[in-house]
Amino acid sequence: SHACKLAAGNWKMNGLSADLEQARALAAAFPDPKCGILLCPPATLISAMAEAVSGSAVMVGGQDCHAQVAGAHTGDISAHMLADAGARQVILGHSERRADHAETSAQVAAKAAAAHAAGLVAIICVGETEAERDAGQTLEIVLSQLAHSLPDGANSANTVIAYEPVWAIGTGRTPTLDQIAEVHDALRAKLPDAAMSLLYGGSVKPGNAAEIFAIANVDGALVGGASLKAEDFGAIIAAL
Ligand code: G3H
Repeated sequence: SHACKLAAGNWKMNGLSADLEQARALAAAFPDPKCGILLCPPATLISAMAEAVSGSAVMVGGQDCHAQVAGAHTGDISAHMLADAGARQVILGHSERRADHAETSAQVAAKAAAAHAAGLVAIICVGETEAERDAGQTLEIVLSQLAHSLPDGANSANTVIAYEPVWAIGTGRTPTLDQIAEVHDALRAKLPDAAMSLLYGGSVKPGNAAEIFAIANVDGALVGGASLKAEDFGAIIAAL
């Protein structure tokens, strides 16, 4: 696993201007972090957040992008626009996008290619539902998502993979450490570049972060709810 891990916070559809204070507090709390810190606010806050944390170690990212550079796609945002607003990364294929917007792995791969073309790091999410886990299909599902979501040219410099069991997201339930290790080991074996970072996501909190980060093939976390408060996210960063 990587010496320098990544704590990525996904604010999802949460956050108004006043919440930029959380980003400022994080930047102030970690003036010289040994590891990576990323916040992915809603698109409305990317530009202001990038300015708020400018000069600090905190990076800013988007939560989705369109596969095209520009055009007639009302309501969508391109990877170039995210980069222009100050984003350096973009989360793609989150299970909420796959479920709410019927995103396929092929679409995720096209979005990731667009992210790469814009100079963004693509954080590609994979994960099984509870029914799939109960049916013994976990590895088959996540490896299929991985294979079909990776664009040509994906490497450890431009792509990060996040394993997020759907049933662990926002539920307070997490897999056992052995279950996380099993999936991360299987993903690692199929990466096009073995040095690619593998994040775990799903109910990561200050109380379980350290034991999850201690798993051999876990290179950090993608954090939802606990990334909304600088104190909680700071405790997770401190556990990296
Ligand atoms: O992208 C983040 C994940 O969906 C995890 O969310 O930490 O609220 O469970 P959570």
